[in-house]
Amino acid sequence: MQPAKGSVLTRQPSTMSRRAFAAAIAAAAVRVVTDGPGGAPALVPVLAAQAVALKDLVPQRWLIGAALNQNQSDGRDTVAVDLVTRQFNTISPENALKFQSLHPEPGRFTFDAADRYVAFGRDRGMAVIGHTLVWHSQTPRWVWDGPDGALADRATMLARMRTHITTVAGRYAGRIRGWDVVNEALNEDGTLRDSPWRRGIGDDYIARAFEFAHEADPNAELYYNDYNLATRPDKRAGALRIVRDLQQRGIRIDAVGEQGHWRLDTPAPADLDQAITELRGTGLPVMITELDVNLLPPAGAPARGQAPSAESNPYASGLPDDVQQALARYYAEAFRVLLKHRDGIGRVTFWGVSDADSWLNRGRVNHPLLWDRQRRPKAAFDRVVAVLTGK
Ligand code: XIL
Repeated sequence: MQPAKGSVLTRQPSTMSRRAFAAAIAAAAVRVVTDGPGGAPALVPVLAAQAVALKDLVPQRWLIGAALNQNQSDGRDTVAVDLVTRQFNTISPENALKFQSLHPEPGRFTFDAADRYVAFGRDRGMAVIGHTLVWHSQTPRWVWDGPDGALADRATMLARMRTHITTVAGRYAGRIRGWDVVNEALNEDGTLRDSPWRRGIGDDYIARAFEFAHEADPNAELYYNDYNLATRPDKRAGALRIVRDLQQRGIRIDAVGEQGHWRLDTPAPADLDQAITELRGTGLPVMITELDVNLLPPAGAPARGQAPSAESNPYASGLPDDVQQALARYYAEAFRVLLKHRDGIGRVTFWGVSDADSWLNRGRVNHPLLWDRQRRPKAAFDRVVAVLTGK
């Protein structure tokens, strides 16, 4: 569809206020969607053309980004590609760099999709993030298996860990800015999770992973990443112990990542504020690495192949305006807190581009991000823009 001459799509932004232009673009985008042939959605790249870009509005040293799925990093989802290219200066891989994606069998590495993800970011001058080297999830069983169904011994497991890290972080040395070296090592009470890595190697598996990563790419930033660090003080204390232990041993660590899988009621802004203050006590920057705001009732995900109950899936046919506004307010408050700590925040990454892409749907209909299913900016986007521009 060609925009008519003089329509909002061809008018210069300089003749309108930024906000008015953004609103006009969003309104035009609605028309494009509903004007599709036979009522079918007609998504064209212009939908992604917000008048303002988050990457131009965040404080100078911040990175701001989104996790890409493979349709995006392969370039098939052109609307999302356009949106990501305009809005962000960093990307994370939703699944492409996980152990099971890269190293499905001993001695066999599969780098094609990961290479395309890295090229996506490099081609656009973005900071490319690596996620993740050592995790208890999305890791194939062989990694931990010893003879006769027992757990592998320490030496074997360390050797496998080292081979993986050396091969993967070594391959992308100089191209990946930083790695989530260890992901989710903690229980909710702040003790170390009893993962197969820990059972096989011992508590120092974390330190060894960071050492191997540093060896493989001496210039890469190295992060510890976990969730609920803003909502659970005990867990946060555990993260602080991990960081301080690495620091005391003289092992490189560059930032702590709070995943940022949040809900409308938690963390409260004051708790987020407190969490950042405490994490900053390590002297390291804090990164919000997987930001989304889950709007659905907890524990209502349907079993595979089953339909969700109506009460567990309240926004299946859209988000009521009051909830849309509550989400916008929550994001605004959160960004206000992040801005308060502007010098202590290194990066903010959303876990997905639009609501359609979010892992939080899982058989239901969730609305956790700044762009809706048609890739139109939501009220939350406008509110975040307002906060970042000092309104
Ligand atoms: C999720 C992905 O988004 C899903 O596509 C996948 O099925 C499961 O993993 N914490 C993490 C991420 O560190 O790697 C997870 O990503 C979300 C929770």
